[in-house]
Amino acid sequence: MKILGIESSCDECACAVVEDGRAILSNVVVSQTEIHRPYNGVVPELASRAHIELIGPVYERALKEAGLGLDDIDGIAAASRPGLLGALLVGLSFAKALAWSRGLAFTAVDHVRAHLYAPHIENDIPYPYIGLLASGGHTLIARVADFDNIEVLGTTIDDACGEAFDKVAKFYNFGFPGGAAVDRLAKDGDARAFSFPDPVLNKGEHRCDVSYSGLKTAAVNQLDKFLNPGYEKTPANIAASFQKAAIDILLRRLFRAVEDTGLRRVVAGGGVAANSYLRAALAGRNDLQVIFPSPVLCTDNGAMIAATGYELFRRGRTSPWTENASARVAAFKRRYP
Ligand code: KG4
Ligand code: ZN
Repeated sequence: MKILGIESSCDECACAVVEDGRAILSNVVVSQTEIHRPYNGVVPELASRAHIELIGPVYERALKEAGLGLDDIDGIAAASRPGLLGALLVGLSFAKALAWSRGLAFTAVDHVRAHLYAPHIENDIPYPYIGLLASGGHTLIARVADFDNIEVLGTTIDDACGEAFDKVAKFYNFGFPGGAAVDRLAKDGDARAFSFPDPVLNKGEHRCDVSYSGLKTAAVNQLDKFLNPGYEKTPANIAASFQKAAIDILLRRLFRAVEDTGLRRVVAGGGVAANSYLRAALAGRNDLQVIFPSPVLCTDNGAMIAATGYELFRRGRTSPWTENASARVAAFKRRYP
């Protein structure tokens, strides 16, 4: 089954063709970085407009690179939530129109579930495992029992992990996109320069929850308070210390989830999973089996949408033409969605 996956939830316009959920025949990702760079952040209206211009050419490139025509495609999947509403609508409407015009199967895909599923494209991963998703919009630590059964163990009570990277990078003008800029800069810094605080909420049902507003405030407004003697307040030192603090917050909760569930397999996804400090820290845990997707499958891409769509089609699940986009996912507590 060859599935076309379309992703337009934020500032990446992406189309991919994936066969049987595993073989990536093409994976075209056009980033709008240059459009949003002057603002040091994604401007939703500009993103929607750029998607409208990009979606046709990106789709055509994806088919061309796969060496296929639309007649060779068995089904079309598109991200429908969560994300920027106008941006999502472009990809979703394009997918529905394309599928309807050719009588092809169509399914909407939850973007968070697609991030969690992305590592399965390159690896045979048995269930259950601890899923770790950290991106610009979401932070989730979950017990993934099977494809459909995602028990939320922890999430953020304020900002997402990637969002904290983006905000700190924006404040200090480290570059855009923020996460990758901090990661790069941190390589020249000393993470011992600042001792940023760890949020105290970690009792009872919040054992695996994270919070980033305190760290963000500390790094942005109270920097001097956390500077250790003998160290300098350089951009690289700020980046290295912030990165370590932000990722350690995530890791501490992740290890609690490992402890609570007894599961020793950790599967990571989302843009922050591209972070070099996170990758190195988890690689050092010989007691855990840790699976990371390739960096291109960590950040937003069409292949993860196509592969998730394949799993849905395989189970006979399609979406109606009335399927709509939504910016948010209705409140989830123990289960996602
Ligand atoms: O998954 P993604 O492409 O989009 C969302 O669904 O949000 O993730 C983007 C997020 C951004 O916040 C970006 O700053 C962060 O992932 N990110 C990183 C790195 N690369 C991307 N954060 C830390 N280190 C990185 N190397
Ligand atoms: Zn994403």
